[in-house]
Amino acid sequence: MLQSSPQNITILGATGTIGLNTLDVIARHPDKYRAYALTANGRAEALFDLCKQYHPRYAVLLQEAAADRLRQMLLQAGIETEVLFGMDALEQVASAPEVDAVMAAIVGAAGLRPAMAAAHAGKRIMLANKETLVMAGSLFMQAVEESGATLLPIDSEHNAIFQVMPSKKYPDLHSGGVRKILLTASGGPFRNASREQLLQVTSQQALNHPNWVMGPKITIDSATLMNKGLEVIEAKWLFDATPEQIEVVVHPQSVIHSMVEYVDGSVLAQLGNPDMRTPIAYALAYPERIDSGVGSLDLFKIATLNFERPDTGRFPCLRLAFDVLKRGGTAPAILNAANEVAVEAFLQSRIGFMDIPALIERVLSLSSIKPVTDIPNLIAADQAARQLAQEWMVQSA
Ligand SMILES: NC(=O)c1ccc[n+]([C@@H]2O[C@H](COP(=O)([O-])OP(=O)(O)OC[C@H]3O[C@@H](n4cnc5c(N)ncnc54)[C@H](OP(=O)(O)O)[C@@H]3O)[C@@H](O)[C@H]2O)c1
Repeated sequence: MLQSSPQNITILGATGTIGLNTLDVIARHPDKYRAYALTANGRAEALFDLCKQYHPRYAVLLQEAAADRLRQMLLQAGIETEVLFGMDALEQVASAPEVDAVMAAIVGAAGLRPAMAAAHAGKRIMLANKETLVMAGSLFMQAVEESGATLLPIDSEHNAIFQVMPSKKYPDLHSGGVRKILLTASGGPFRNASREQLLQVTSQQALNHPNWVMGPKITIDSATLMNKGLEVIEAKWLFDATPEQIEVVVHPQSVIHSMVEYVDGSVLAQLGNPDMRTPIAYALAYPERIDSGVGSLDLFKIATLNFERPDTGRFPCLRLAFDVLKRGGTAPAILNAANEVAVEAFLQSRIGFMDIPALIERVLSLSSIKPVTDIPNLIAADQAARQLAQEWMVQSA
């Protein structure tokens, strides 16, 4: 029988949590997948370690100085990986003709352009970078549609929803018999904290997520519930849902990764251990299934599953995300940019935990919301929001 050659995979954000989990799954199936390009921001040493192990065709760093360092290290080690740098190079390895699939796992707005490049090139896109859909949902979905790209969600919640949605394509959720999407949330480390306690939260405490091991930005987003807010917007674009069709359910065990309720009263859920290798393996192999390295779910050990309503009084970021979703236009991109500035400032102990929603709300109130026309108009909105956020911090210092 003819053996097909392994698929070429580009991993954008290879040195991050999702990137490393993707490489872990790929390494289990060398007959099926090979790392074609691995990318990072500035951590040349971390990318060098991955090049030693996976021998990709390309290694790309955003920063030129880091790329020079990596080139030297590879030369000394006798590794033939070619080093590129800059945003254009990230776009190039996301859209090269020989690439079969792209894992979009850069954190934040920086992931937008390479993910768009993969969408325009009609790739199989495994989308972890939710900020792409938050900022540019309409443009991204249009590019996917026009190019015939295959879009597979990596966020465990959206991956779960994808798995339990009707397999046939319907013009909208209602005609597919779907009543609503139940998006689960762990509630983060401060689920039971009072308002007074939230005012005192440190970045160290917020970085300590009860169920998931993730990069710092998404871990803080999980603690403020902004992550769930971004996911609500992501769900709107992925599943063509209205805000009213999306309900957030706090489920502290993170065993049910999300659910879909149908008009006949059926509620379908996807369950599993909280390990990102499950959605990654699902997306890599879709519509087949492959081993991900994740063990069986021990229901007897879990024994109990709990559900609560989210409290948008203590966690205003979730309310803000629903607000911008209803406002549309550049509002979600503005919320995203203000949040990125706020999270970075919180991680540097320059602002408090509850200043994060306050800063975002202030930036939104000062911004003019415009219709989304193209990527430059979104990037302009993003930059203006970052500027306002910086000014807010100077004024309130
Ligand atoms: N972690 C999870 O469990 C999880 C779950 C669902 C969705 N996601 C989403 O997946 C994305 C990645 O999350 P993560 O937790 O893996 O993040 P992470 O651990 O912080 O890794 C981020 C990756 O992006 C690279 N990067 C950072 N800034 C960049 C820039 N300006 N230009 C190019 N590359 C840049 C980093 O390179 P350096 O190493 O050089 O800094 C690193 O490879 C996020 O959008 C997140 O919301 C994550």
